[in-house]
Parts: sequence; structure tokens; C-alpha cells
Amino acid sequence: MALGSDSGRGMWSNRWVFVLAAAGSAVGLGNIWKFPYIAGENGGGAFVLIYLVCVGLVGIPIMISEVMLGRTARSSPIHAMRKLTDLAGASRKWVFIGWMGVVAGFMILSYYAVIAGWALNYILLTAQGTFTEISADGAALTYNEFLASPLQLIFWHTLFMVLTIWIVGRGVSQGLEFAIRWFMPLLFILLLVLLGYSFTSAGFAQGLEFMFDTRFEAVSGETWLVAMGQAFFTLSLGMGAMMAYGSYVPENVSIGKTVMIIALLDTFVAVAAGMVIFPIVFANGLEAGQGPGLMFVTIPLAFGQLPMGEIFGTIFFVLVSFAAFTSAISLTEPALSYLVEEYNAKRKRVAISLGVMCWILGLGTVFSFNIWSTGYIIGQMTVFDFVDYVSQNIMLPLGGMLIAVFSVWVLPQTTVGEQLGIRGGFLGVLWKLLGGLVAPVCVLVIFVYTVMPLFTNAG
Ligand code: PHE
Repeated sequence: MALGSDSGRGMWSNRWVFVLAAAGSAVGLGNIWKFPYIAGENGGGAFVLIYLVCVGLVGIPIMISEVMLGRTARSSPIHAMRKLTDLAGASRKWVFIGWMGVVAGFMILSYYAVIAGWALNYILLTAQGTFTEISADGAALTYNEFLASPLQLIFWHTLFMVLTIWIVGRGVSQGLEFAIRWFMPLLFILLLVLLGYSFTSAGFAQGLEFMFDTRFEAVSGETWLVAMGQAFFTLSLGMGAMMAYGSYVPENVSIGKTVMIIALLDTFVAVAAGMVIFPIVFANGLEAGQGPGLMFVTIPLAFGQLPMGEIFGTIFFVLVSFAAFTSAISLTEPALSYLVEEYNAKRKRVAISLGVMCWILGLGTVFSFNIWSTGYIIGQMTVFDFVDYVSQNIMLPLGGMLIAVFSVWVLPQTTVGEQLGIRGGFLGVLWKLLGGLVAPVCVLVIFVYTVMPLFTNAG
């Protein structure tokens, strides 16, 4: 990425490079793989609506806070929190935010690399014509057979991790900016092509109804928790990735406006992915709530029916893989930048050590789909479910809530005013109301109602 050397640690060359990098972090498996399957498992429409509310009322203010903290401190999240607590004369306990982010990033990357590995394998499968005119059952069978083989999963998981560590270890390079500049727009175009296809499919009306028809009977406290976790995950919030990227944002960039653009792009990709997938699901008599396999069954199925589907399908999975790389890189950034700054360590060495540890943890996810598929950690949760649940639904919202509270109630508001260009007035009230009250209270209420009973029941 274009980190110029005009200041000591570098800076994005302009606002758009930051938008690209942050959108690269935000748009990933969370949008194309996770959002549709979580919406499918949680009843569709009402979930989508709650998710949009969470993005607007909680996600956007927290992203603004995170980028602002990064830009104020201009260092890795852990160091940033140290500097900022000193600036505010507050307790060093707040640095916990930075540490929890490092752990959350580590946990997320451990399974992210496994699923991204599936996408890599699907590039090859699609290119070979495996899905040409395949039936719905055939597509499901291909997926199930792949998952049943730990060795195959480990191969692709390893490949993804090695490539990520290679890119990260080289420094966030020109190559990445090139990828983001070309592949993100291409991803948008291909999504539009696929939207066109699903528009003409027999299941379009049913798919649309599933996504936008709000049947609130299906909503529980758990729905809110999952929607909120998804909003944090998809916007890369609550673990310091945006803080790390924010630390390179030039002074003259308007944080508020830029964050809106990033959130809009991210939301568009998620909703478009759902609108592509559900019509195809219904047109083929598949199930909406089939879980993590949703994208890996319906998308190949759709391409299999299209003229030149092998070519488009291959490009699609290449793009998904790129989207996953640009997100994976940002997942390593908080830990990596901290270790490099703190110990003056070599980036490459730190990257390799982190990669190896993460790879080992990732084996838990690999086995969750085959030999450990009934090895539950708590309740009915496999290792994958557990790592995913704790990081996405607990650590990210908790981190995000603390970030918002810190920004509004602890940091001197003169600093905030300078950073965000707010001089009291309507924006000042809005900032306090959303960042200081609505966002933290929403997270807290959802926590108290859903997470607490989970632990009291389990214990
Ligand atoms: N936002 C990424 C996605 O949707 C995942 C991610 C989460 C990246 C947290 C960085 C930090 O795929």
C-alpha cells in the first residue's frame, strides 16, 4: 500500500488509498461467505434489518472512534492506547483494549485462513469444470467430500497462511495496493453480473422475500447478538485493525465522511451477496440455513449453469480469495506492528512466528469439519464454532464498546474536536449521543441478555 515516507512511519498518500485499504480490510469472507449464511440461519429479513441498524447506530460511530484514536496516537494499537491514556491522564488499564484486539485478531485469522483456503481450492475446482451443469446434489456432495478430508483442508489452509505471511512479512507492499485497486472494482462488477443472473432465476421473488420480509416472530436476543457481532466483524471493528490503519491517515482527511463511504461499500457487498445467493438457493430447492457451506454450494451451482461459467466462476473465487487476503493482512497488523515497534524486531521473523502459531490453532477449525465434528467444547459448539463465537460475538463488541466509551468519556474532547472537526453544535451532540451512549448501551444490553445466561446456564 502506498505508505509514503513523508513522516517517520509513513502515511497513506491520500484519502482514497485509505478508503481502498480500509475497504480491503472490511470487505472479505465476512461479506460474501458469512453474511448470507448467518442471515440464512437466523431467519432472513428481520436479521438483515437488525444488522443494518447495528451497522448504522453502532458500527459507524465505533469505526470513527477507532480511526480517530489511531490517527491521534500514530502508533500500533497497544502503543496507541498507552499514549492516549497518558494524554488523558487515565488509568493504563485501558490498554487492555489493545491486548484483547491482538488475541481476537489471532483467533479470527486462525479460522479465516481455513475458510479462505476453501476459496483457493474452489478456484481450481471451478477452472477444471467440476461444476459445469452439475446438479444441486452434486455441488453439495463435492463440498461435503472436500470437508471430510483433513489433508486437503490442511493443504489449502497452509497455502493461504504461507501467502498471507509472505505478503505481510515483506511489508505492506505495492503489490497489495495494486491488488486492491484492480480487484475490488472487479469484485463489484462480478457481483453485479451475478445479481443479473439471480434476477432472472426462478427463485428471485422468493429470495428477495426471504431477505427483506421482516418476520419478527423469529427474532430473539440471540439474533441481536449475532447481528451485532456480524456488524463488528464485517467492518473489521473492535480489534485494532482500523486503529492501525487509522494511524497512517493524513491530517487533512475527513474521518467521518471517509468512514461512511467505507461502511456503505461494505454493506453493499454483503447485501448484494445475499441477493445473489438466496434466489439460487430457492430456485434449486436448497436450504437457506445450511450454514458455512452456503456459498460453496450455491455459487458453483449458479456458475455451472451459466455460459462460460468456468471462466466467470474461476474469476469469482480468485476475487473472493483476494478479498480474503486483504482482510487477513489487516488481522495481523495490530500484533505485528506492536511487536516490531516494541522489540525493534524484524517484520519477517515476527510474521513467521505469528503465522506458525495461528496455523496450529487453525488445525482446530480444520478438524471441526471432520474428525472432531462431534468434539464439542461447550454445548453443541465445535472448536470452529467456539473460536468464531467468542471472537466475533464477544471480543469484538466488547473491544468496540470500550473504544467508544474511551473516545467519548475519557479522551479530552478538545482532541476529538480537532480530529473530527466538530465544534460543539449538532454534530457534537450526535457524537456524544451515538458514540458515548447508544453504541455502548446497545452492546451492553445485548450482552447482559444473551451472553450472561449462556455462562450461568453452562456453569
Ligand atoms: N472484515 C473482514 C471480513 O468481513 C474480517 C475482519 C475482521 C478483518 C476483523 C479484520 C478485522 O471478512
